[in-house]
Amino acid sequence: MAHDVETKTDRNLAMELVRVTEAAGLAASRWMGLGKKNEADGAAVEAMRKAFDSVAIDGTVVIGEGEMDEAPMLYIGEKVGMGGPAMDIAVDPLEGTNLTAKGGPSALAVIALAEKGCFLHAPDVYMDKIAVGGGLPRGVVDLDNSVQNNLRNLALAKKCDTSDLVACILDRERHYEMIAKCREMGTRIVLISDGDMAGVMATCQPETGVDIYMGWGGAPEGVLAAAALRCVDGQIHGRLIYEDDSQRERAISMGITDPNKKFDIFDMAKGDVMFAATGVTAGPMLKGVRRTPHGATTHSIVMRSKSGTIRFVEAFHNFTTKTWTPN
Ligand code: FBP
Repeated sequence: MAHDVETKTDRNLAMELVRVTEAAGLAASRWMGLGKKNEADGAAVEAMRKAFDSVAIDGTVVIGEGEMDEAPMLYIGEKVGMGGPAMDIAVDPLEGTNLTAKGGPSALAVIALAEKGCFLHAPDVYMDKIAVGGGLPRGVVDLDNSVQNNLRNLALAKKCDTSDLVACILDRERHYEMIAKCREMGTRIVLISDGDMAGVMATCQPETGVDIYMGWGGAPEGVLAAAALRCVDGQIHGRLIYEDDSQRERAISMGITDPNKKFDIFDMAKGDVMFAATGVTAGPMLKGVRRTPHGATTHSIVMRSKSGTIRFVEAFHNFTTKTWTPN
């Protein structure tokens, strides 16, 4: 009986999360293509923070907008929710601020939720990442293997040639060597200008054609991506990259005892995890927010690791009703 109640609560909570990402996505979408990434981000943060007020949790932000003195809302340690079970929250109200400012693809509003202590408290530094989708042997790719060996092993597991594989990589100078190695193996590449969370998630969706994500991106985005992959049986490794000693010290101060550790998916997101994302701009996985004279349509994904359910939620938000609020 207790289990039933808990399951129902989880289910309802997962759907509540979509309201929160929808609110952030709707707010950010007003800034699409206007060349103002900070305004887009600010609008998403404010809307997400407000929407949390009606979620029945006693939430603590563990991955958020930064430290209390640098972020007015959704800062690390901030309490959110109207009261309920104690949960840790990882948020990225607008993943892809530049994408939104330029009207580029796959900007997302993202939330993950788990019981206390289940998310890696990742500082805002780079993380070297490698990720693949579900249905593959555990350890098929490994951050400590060469690019060539990872591609060979993945091709073997997928019963194809390395030239049949598609890798998604952020288009950055730091990745030029990796890109060259992929090309030597005949592996085709999708270079993205921003938004590595969507890049990681693409590995889980056969229709995107992406088989593997590799490269450095934000560490907080790595934790959120791990939460998403937990729900679809995907795999990810991540290792923090420090540009100076202060970044390493920051990681240690956030409770990371081995700053050079290769984190696996469970190091980053353990226990029962819930994940929700709403498309801000259109991409292969989610449609962007579409506005009409009277409202807007949102497209979201919501997943739970416990059940493995993946739901796509398409919602019409009618702005003309008196009761309409952004969430
Ligand atoms: P923001 O939404 O915070 O701008 O992040 C976009 C992003 O592309 C992430 O998806 C990625 O992890 C990170 O920036 C890469 O950082 P950089 O632009 O420094 O290479």
